Amino acid sequence: MAPARAVDRANRIRETLVTPRLRLEPLSESHGDALYAVYSEPAVGRFLMTRPSSREDFRPILHRALLFTASHGMWAVFPRSGDPRLLGRVGFFAYSPAARPELAFLLSPSAWGRGLATEACRRALAHALVCHSWTEVVAIVRPANSAAIGVLRKLGFAVESRLVLAGQPADLYQAPRTALAERVGDAPREDLA
Ligand SMILES: CC(C)(COP(=O)(O)OP(=O)(O)OC[C@H]1O[C@@H](n2cnc3c(N)ncnc32)[C@H](O)[C@@H]1OP(=O)(O)O)[C@@H](O)C(=O)NCCC(=O)NCCS
Repeated sequence: MAPARAVDRANRIRETLVTPRLRLEPLSESHGDALYAVYSEPAVGRFLMTRPSSREDFRPILHRALLFTASHGMWAVFPRSGDPRLLGRVGFFAYSPAARPELAFLLSPSAWGRGLATEACRRALAHALVCHSWTEVVAIVRPANSAAIGVLRKLGFAVESRLVLAGQPADLYQAPRTALAERVGDAPREDLA
């Protein structure tokens, strides 16, 4: 790809996105403290694959997520109202060994139960379909994580296989591009000017 086009594409991937209730800001170092606070909520940590034990321990977790802001898309989630309180994070990692695009999301418990994770994921997926030629997206959840499974099923994901991660069972969910296009095709696409 020509350098100018590569820069355009990277800028496009890390656009700020909005939904009816949320504002998705490209994840940056400045979000670290607030995001660590969300990771530290016991109800959130219960289902995390990588649980930080301190702010220092969170540094490489944040650093890894930041690497994906430009390449895949990774956002800090805020209320659209302008409230500066960070609600969570949504975006894409690369699941090894084949570097399959992996949807990952978490929200502060104060924001649970109102469809906000689904809204954030749908917007991120709609953006991904525009920015990337991915043929699929995967996600990894603990079998007891009913809320995350609910989000994934609504978005067109189904179980592909059972894994063991950090000594505990985890399920690999997968959605082909066609299923995602059907489910997220009508996600609001208005971007901030
Ligand atoms: C997973 C998480 C983001 C969900 O956030 P949320 O905003 O409450 O999710 P939504 O409201 O968009 O959707 C959750 C769905 O699961 C359903 N659900 C919630 N709890 C459930 C339960 N205990 N049993 C069955 N279904 C449940 C909800 O009813 C909803 O489906 P519906 O819209 O059909 O009613 C949030 O619980 C979280 O951050 N958990 C900790 C981190 C995590 O697990 N991340 C996912 C790892 S990939």
